[in-house]
Amino acid sequence: MRKALFIACLIFVFAGIVLAQTGVKKKRPLPYNYGKMIINNYSEKAEIAPVAFDHWHHRAKFTCRLCHVDIGFGMKANSTNIRAADNMKGFYCGTCHNGKMVYGNRKVFEACSRKNTEEDAKRCDRCHSVGKNVKKEYDFYEFTEKFPKERFGNGINWEKAEAEGFIKLTDFIEGISIKRAPFTIQKDFALEGKVKGMPDIVFSHKKHTVWNGCEVCHPEIFIGVKKGATKYSMVEIFEGKFCGVCHTTVAFPLTDCQRCHTKPVQ
Ligand code: HEC
Ligand code: HEC
Ligand code: HEC
Ligand code: HEC
Ligand code: HEC
Ligand code: HEC
Repeated sequence: MRKALFIACLIFVFAGIVLAQTGVKKKRPLPYNYGKMIINNYSEKAEIAPVAFDHWHHRAKFTCRLCHVDIGFGMKANSTNIRAADNMKGFYCGTCHNGKMVYGNRKVFEACSRKNTEEDAKRCDRCHSVGKNVKKEYDFYEFTEKFPKERFGNGINWEKAEAEGFIKLTDFIEGISIKRAPFTIQKDFALEGKVKGMPDIVFSHKKHTVWNGCEVCHPEIFIGVKKGATKYSMVEIFEGKFCGVCHTTVAFPLTDCQRCHTKPVQ
């Protein structure tokens, strides 16, 4: 009985943290703004508008692993030091935005260049869009209309969208990614809460590997040599560590307690 009360209190405290984060201090982002990165290490200094990067659009096409391991974008906004010159040489955004890569039946528009025709300026605006009224070619609501829905974050159940074939993720780019042997998928397990009586936490290696491979998580976020090797608490997760690296910014947010705190994986 006392244990149940203790757990109820804990949940109350964390619900308070969430409210403080989402209700009072920070307004909950609109579905199409969840996962938007504003990149501005050099733009304003070079007198060009900062860059907006939408995760929703890119993650509907590519795995997290492709960008965060093979291409090398950092897992923190503005940590990568992307330069116009790098993009022009085919690194970072320029890996795909090179005016040559074909996706679907379209050529992916080129990133930075030194040319300055009117045509080029329009293209610059597509990425250097912060503070400008740039019309997107892909409308969020139209693009995601048929996707399975969820309550928080982008309002989309990305896990289902992938599993049910609404999106097909590219995990390999010729000349960039290294061919590997297929992964042996780690056996699925539920994480046991440290607090006795807390329901186990859903965590599926199989489902996470679809998006992240192994290397996005191991060894940087979770040492993961042995279950229980990394100690973490809900407070640290709220601070954006461990599960919170992704589940506060890009994957469904922590407000969705029940998606993690339910029954163990089958
Ligand atoms: C596909 C997206 C994309 C497009 C299109 C694009 N850029 Fe960039 N550009 C970036 C990113 C990302 C950065 C790094 C932003 C930062 O850290 O401030 C950047 C940085 C820059 C910088 C900052 C200076 C530096 O040395 O890095 C300049 C100047 C620049 N771009 C010019 C241009 C021009 C001119 C165009 C149009 C011809 C253009 N860019 C089109 C993505 C793009
Ligand atoms: C097309 C490439 C691309 C894909 C696909 C992609 N990301 Fe990112 N991600 C980026 C870029 C670019 C940044 C910003 C890096 C910077 O500013 O230095 C970023 C930043 C992040 C951050 C830091 C957020 C913050 O607020 O600091 C996280 C976490 C993240 N991504 C997770 C993911 C996850 C999870 C997925 C898959 C569901 C994913 N990314 C898919 C390119 C990508
Ligand atoms: C792994 C490949 C890949 C990388 C890396 C990548 N993109 Fe893209 N991006 C795409 C594709 C494919 C499209 C769709 C292009 C189309 O259909 O016209 C796209 C579209 C876009 C759009 C257009 C959205 C619209 O509706 O008009 C913007 C803006 C954009 N990317 C910015 C960026 C920025 C900024 C970066 C680097 C920080 C980046 N992308 C890195 C593949 C990539
Ligand atoms: C989204 C992040 C994530 C991804 C992706 C991921 N793991 Fe893990 N892994 C974890 C977590 C969390 C644990 C548990 C760590 C703990 O409790 O200390 C774990 C634990 C493990 C363990 C120890 C298991 C045990 O029973 O002791 C191994 C081995 C492992 N992972 C291998 C892999 C391999 C191989 C892949 C790719 C197929 C992979 N992981 C992908 C997060 C991830
Ligand atoms: C590297 C980024 C990353 C980390 C770290 C991570 N996740 Fe996820 N997780 C994702 C992505 C991407 C999805 C797909 C759904 C989405 O984006 O909303 C997902 C989906 C899920 C799902 C729904 C799928 C299912 O199994 O039913 C659960 C539950 C979940 N994560 C729990 C966790 C837990 C618990 C941890 C920490 C032990 C964790 N995640 C760490 C990226 C991550
Ligand atoms: C992305 C998955 C995820 C979401 C969403 C999530 N949690 Fe957790 N939570 C965890 C994990 C993993 C632990 C386990 C930490 C441990 O005990 O090792 C945990 C532990 C806890 C604990 C035990 C005490 C502690 O500090 O470890 C409580 C209480 C808790 N969570 C409450 C909540 C509440 C309330 C929400 C919603 C506001 C929530 N959690 C959302 C993954 C999640």
